[in-house]
Amino acid sequence: MPSQSQRKGIIIAGGLGKRLLPSTYSNNKHLFLLYDKPMIYYPLTTLMLGGIKDILIVTLESSIESYNKLLGNGSKWGINIQYSIQDEPKGIADAILLGEDFVGNSNIVIILGDNIFHGNHLYNLWELSDSFDNGSTIFAYQVSDPERYGIVDIDANGFVLNIDEKPKIPKSNFAITGLYFYDNSVFNRIRKLNYSSRNELEVTSLNNSYIKDNLLKVNLIGRGMAWFDAGTFDSFLDASLYIRTIQSRQGLMIGCPEEAAFRKGWIDRYQVVNLADTLRHSQYGDYLYKILESNK
Ligand code: G1P
Repeated sequence: MPSQSQRKGIIIAGGLGKRLLPSTYSNNKHLFLLYDKPMIYYPLTTLMLGGIKDILIVTLESSIESYNKLLGNGSKWGINIQYSIQDEPKGIADAILLGEDFVGNSNIVIILGDNIFHGNHLYNLWELSDSFDNGSTIFAYQVSDPERYGIVDIDANGFVLNIDEKPKIPKSNFAITGLYFYDNSVFNRIRKLNYSSRNELEVTSLNNSYIKDNLLKVNLIGRGMAWFDAGTFDSFLDASLYIRTIQSRQGLMIGCPEEAAFRKGWIDRYQVVNLADTLRHSQYGDYLYKILESNK
């Protein structure tokens, strides 16, 4: 069974972000400020908390420079970040295929760049996925607006029948979240997919190929977890307000890669101080000093 550290992660951060136009004319949405930090910090931290140190970011060519400035090669956080360019918005499965060389023989974890997960159960998600050595593990979350997502159809015995992408008449209220665990057969599966009516290689078609072979496990995320897909104005604001509320109540940050790296032991106190020094005069920098104070 592969351990988390043998897995590689891919963050899907391409796309045109049409639902957020006109802001996305000039900027990649995953770099937008989601409350107090760039959106990409949240999925990146989720992967880091899951123990993933080798991470590929798939994005537009026009954004590479900004990502390099912001994240670089990840060494400042004790991780390895590489980039791959998706020139055309041909879908999530197409973006995964771009990671084939990077992934090699490993199993992979995919996270969508606009997906924010928060809550104690995050660790459970990683544990649940740990039981897979072949096939795929994905997660469903109850939503009130199922038309916006991939929706899972489950029979009375809990058996997964199918996933429909953005169905007009949804068969359930359980949306598939943007966190996917795949074995290495994923690339050959993607090569066999057909383009959808919106001319994309859909992650939902990929998941259905695992269902067909009886190799897909869908775990339901319970009500104690928060999950947002910050791809629309409203969900963007909802996620921002949620983050602000929790952070100001607890004094603990959501989506702070420096903290994740420190708690994992991937960077030491001295490195955190150096990072905090470069962020001096910001609340974010103050927070890094605070972490060190409370971990003496
Ligand atoms: C994508 C997937 C969808 C999934 C959603 C989760 O939709 O296609 O199946 O439920 O992410 O965030 P998109 O956000 O690209 O419309």
